[in-house]
Amino acid sequence: MTKWAVVTGAAHGIGAVIAEHAVKEGYRVAAWDVDGPAVEQTARDIGEACVGSAVDVSDEEAVREAAARLPQAPHLVVNNAGIVRFGPLLDLPVTEWEAALRVNLTGTFLVARTLAKVMAEAGGGAIVNLASINGIAAAPHAGAYSASKAGVVRLTEHMAMEWARHGIRVNCVAPGLIHAGMSDAIYADPEVRRVREGAVPLGRLGSAEDIAAAVLFLGSEKSAYVSGQTLAVDGGLIKSTLASLPRPASVDSVGFAEA
Ligand SMILES: NC(=O)c1ccc[n+]([C@@H]2O[C@H](COP(=O)([O-])OP(=O)(O)OC[C@H]3O[C@@H](n4cnc5c(N)ncnc54)[C@H](O)[C@@H]3O)[C@@H](O)[C@H]2O)c1
Repeated sequence: MTKWAVVTGAAHGIGAVIAEHAVKEGYRVAAWDVDGPAVEQTARDIGEACVGSAVDVSDEEAVREAAARLPQAPHLVVNNAGIVRFGPLLDLPVTEWEAALRVNLTGTFLVARTLAKVMAEAGGGAIVNLASINGIAAAPHAGAYSASKAGVVRLTEHMAMEWARHGIRVNCVAPGLIHAGMSDAIYADPEVRRVREGAVPLGRLGSAEDIAAAVLFLGSEKSAYVSGQTLAVDGGLIKSTLASLPRPASVDSVGFAEA
C-alpha cells in the first residue's frame, strides 16, 4: 500500500531532509512550502516519489486546496514550516510578533486540522509538529518565537487528546542547537559556535538528520503507543540547565561530606 506523507516547509533546511528521509523510508511525499520554485526544485532533487507545491501554511484556503489535491489521505503529516523573529520584547514591532505566531502556531493548526479530517475518515495516522527548545525555555530576544513554539507544544497535547479517538497520534519534536536551516547564520561565527557546542552535554551541535530520525520514529509504528509528547532532540541541553552551577567540594560527594 502506498503511504503518503505531507511535509511543510520542505524547500530548505530541516524540512528538505525530513522529506528525503521519508522517501527513503518508503513514503511518497507531498512537499509544501511558501517558496514554490524552491520546493519544486528540492522535490526534483529528492526524486519522483516527492512532489513539491507552493502552499502558504498560514493561508487556510491554500491549505484546503493543497489537501484536496492529495491523491489519498496522508499517513504522516509533518508541520515543519517555521520562521524566526528575534528582538527584545520592549521594542518588537507587533507585525513581527504576529508573523511568528501566524506561521508557526496558526500554520500548524490549519494544516493539522485540515488533514486530520481526511486522516480520520481514512482510519487515522500520525502528525508530528516541530517546536523548539525555545518553546520549553526562555532565551534572549526570542520572545515571539518562543511563545509561538510553546503554543505548538501545548496545541500538540490538545490535538493528541481530541483526535486519539480517530486513530491519530500527535507528537512534537523540539530541536535544540541545530547546524542547519535558519541557524546556519549563527554558526558562521566560530566563537559563538564553540560556546554553544560547549553547552551541549553530548558535545556537538545537532544535524537535520538527527531531527529527521526523531520525526520518522514518531511517525512510525515503532511509536504506536506514544501520543501527546514533546521529544527534545538536543544532546541533553534542556535537561542540563543546572550544569554550570558550582557546589563547594566539601558537600559535593556521595553520602556525607568528609571532615
Ligand atoms: N535550525 C534550527 O536550529 C532549529 C532549531 C529549533 C527548531 N527549528 C524548527 O525547525 C523547523 C525548520 O527550521 P529550519 O531551520 O529548517 O528553517 P529554514 O528557514 O531553513 O526552513 C523553513 C522553511 O519553511 C518555509 N516557510 C516559511 N514560512 C512558510 C509558510 N508560511 N508556509 C509554508 N512554508 C513556509 C521556508 O520557505 C523554509 O523552506 C522550523 O519550524 C524551526 O522553527 C529549527
